[in-house]
Amino acid sequence: MLPVTWDTVRLSLHVLGATIWVGGQITLLYLLSTVRELDAGAPAVVARRFNQIAWAGFALLLVTGVWHLLVIGVGDRTTAYHVTLVIKLLVVAASGCGVAVHIIGRSKVALAIGGALGLLGALAALFFGVLLHG
Ligand code: HEM
Repeated sequence: MLPVTWDTVRLSLHVLGATIWVGGQITLLYLLSTVRELDAGAPAVVARRFNQIAWAGFALLLVTGVWHLLVIGVGDRTTAYHVTLVIKLLVVAASGCGVAVHIIGRSKVALAIGGALGLLGALAALFFGVLLHG
């Protein structure tokens, strides 16, 4: 078997965080209409429950993301890598802020724009993450 290294642990935890934050949003969105058919108040209860695991996934991404930056020698990377990293961190911030606006927002506009930014930012972060890993 190939040797298991700290890189294996670091990337596995980062990808686990991404599966929860990105995959969780997609799954919740897909199930929402069915949950609403069960009980008009159920989506809010389910969403509040989802928030707990979702933010835990986001926190795991932040911690392992910083771990990445500490061990991959960012200073020795190319300008193209730095540009990609900055774009990635911007879409990560957009995703986190979008979901926060979606949770605290009371207007339909805040819910819609926040939710869309949260998911699109998460998908973009995933894409740029794979691009960074090369
Ligand atoms: C929504 C949040 C995030 C998502 C969905 C995400 C997703 C990913 C994915 C899927 C990879 C590729 C892993 C692989 O190819 O094995 C990756 C790599 C990476 N991510 Fe993230 N990430 C997020 C947040 C962050 C944050 C906050 C940071 C920095 C503080 C970060 C820094 C990196 C770096 C440097 C790599 C390349 C790691 C390497 O080459 O070893 N990510 N990310």
